[in-house]
Amino acid sequence: MLTSSSISEYRAWRKSLKLKDGELVGFFPTMGALHEGHLDLCRAAKEKCAVVVSSIFVNPAQFAPHEDLDKYPRQQEEDLKKLRELGVDMVFLPNNEIMYPPGYDTWVQADVGSGRNEGAVRPHFFRGVATVCTKLFNIVQPDMVFFGQKDAQQCVVIQHIVRDLNMDIEVVIVPTRREADGLAMSSRNQYLTGEMRAKAPVVYKALCKAKEMIEASKERNADKVREGMKEVLSQEPLVQIQYASVLSTDTLLEVEEVESKVLIAIAVMLGSTRLIDNMIVHSG
Ligand code: PAF
Repeated sequence: MLTSSSISEYRAWRKSLKLKDGELVGFFPTMGALHEGHLDLCRAAKEKCAVVVSSIFVNPAQFAPHEDLDKYPRQQEEDLKKLRELGVDMVFLPNNEIMYPPGYDTWVQADVGSGRNEGAVRPHFFRGVATVCTKLFNIVQPDMVFFGQKDAQQCVVIQHIVRDLNMDIEVVIVPTRREADGLAMSSRNQYLTGEMRAKAPVVYKALCKAKEMIEASKERNADKVREGMKEVLSQEPLVQIQYASVLSTDTLLEVEEVESKVLIAIAVMLGSTRLIDNMIVHSG
């Protein structure tokens, strides 16, 4: 496995690849602190692509000043070991100066991300993600990119920038990997104290309640589904609800009626740790 921190060195390697007809380059960007969910992205990329590239970069542009940029877990040696074991070909490891040199002032923004759910709670976030992913795609030159369903809104933003900026890239969404008790895997789960960790599966329970209401009980009133999720979440007094949403999978707008498929999405604070999770539910 090769690593590179230099754009020109990476590009020389990319140009030197002798790909046969139909062989693809797959890419999954990460911020490190890799867990099984990231490794699923890697496995999906290995299945479809002859060459697999990853990146590790904790992107300052997607953190607000009050957020956890400084304490975000960094464990590069362990991460590289995991990627090597899974047969990744190249890991791009840029630093802030390479990605955002002095005078940097170009930003990418997809309107679908702004103002709602994650975009409302973290207004800077999607501009940072869209910008860094556009830059990474331009550098890495992948044919396919792999993102996790856990960050559902991020997936839609990436699909929009790829479509709207005419990038010749296929976006593959990989299912959320969960712990045995249903908690979605996330690098931020490391912040949870033992007490908070025990309470965290309530988010998955609330999603399951919504799924059951829509699929088994045929509830079509989205407000009732939202109330159902909030009732479950309220059983844990330490949970502060940021949103419990029933969204259109295309527009990410809240719906009134549950028709065909919807994205049910939750964000909560558990102590000082923010948890998000979601499911796509089909109404029949
Ligand atoms: O999902 C993440 O880890 C990040 O948002 C990403 C896509 C690597 C961009 O920094």
